[in-house]
Amino acid sequence: MSRIVYVNGEYLPEAEAKISVFDRGFLFADGVYEVTSVIDGRLIDFPGHAARLQRSLCELEMPRPVDDDALLAIHRELVARNGVGEGMVYLQITRGAADRDFAYPAEPAPSLVMFTQVKALVDSPKAETGMAVITIPDLRWGRRDIKTVQLLYPSMGKMAAKAAGADDAWMVEDGAVTEGTSNNAYIVTGGRIVTRHLGHEILAGITRAAVLRVARESQMQVEERSFTVEEAMAADEAFVTSASTFVMPVVRIDGQAIGGGAPGPVARRLREVYLDEARRTAI
Ligand code: PDD
Repeated sequence: MSRIVYVNGEYLPEAEAKISVFDRGFLFADGVYEVTSVIDGRLIDFPGHAARLQRSLCELEMPRPVDDDALLAIHRELVARNGVGEGMVYLQITRGAADRDFAYPAEPAPSLVMFTQVKALVDSPKAETGMAVITIPDLRWGRRDIKTVQLLYPSMGKMAAKAAGADDAWMVEDGAVTEGTSNNAYIVTGGRIVTRHLGHEILAGITRAAVLRVARESQMQVEERSFTVEEAMAADEAFVTSASTFVMPVVRIDGQAIGGGAPGPVARRLREVYLDEARRTAI
């Protein structure tokens, strides 16, 4: 079945959805994106994704083609037209087509592309077994808080993980874990949930914000600080969060079992509590 894709004001069959070869997203990775999950045909954490998108655009002085109300309407229209019960909506805004020049065009015509992906997110087998991660040096640029489409290094990390028989990679800088290739990283140690503090070094996950909120509301102790690979190896539990994985247990790091080598109680409980909250607030 061919999807219906949104491209600059039009809903088109995917084979007809086209962008210029001069698009700066294609030539310079001059673009930002968001991934919003869908459960029961409704959008999870949409206001958070819209707010982060606005921040990414501001940081790059990139004009936006449509406002938040229009964005929400397009999200809903795509979910409806493609009959998405569970999955994701992908959104990308680039600075648009212009003759190739490192300097931004004086009058950019930004482009907006959106599409859906159907995927079973809630009943994911990995949520039951947990995933294995490897560690790799974090060689990305210095503004990882901006959600840009420069994703080559995370792709390379994912390939290195696969080659090692693992599921994903955690990136390490100055001895501390920054985040996963496409998710935020956590450990549970001494009865506390520990995750890297926000800054230019990591993306401020929308799922992270929601998970930390529900954790605190459930009287769990949270510490936002750096942690080392050694600390992670010795932790009781580890997990990641993102729009596409929600809360996903990590049971091996560089081949070493974490905790009992099976998903732990904190990750399990957080996944449940987060999913309840996500369903309750979905729009
Ligand atoms: N990735 N860190 C990185 C580097 C990410 O790419 C993502 C999301 C996250 C988690 O953010 P959120 O909770 O808002 O999804 C953290 C998306 C899912 C992706 O690239 O597909």
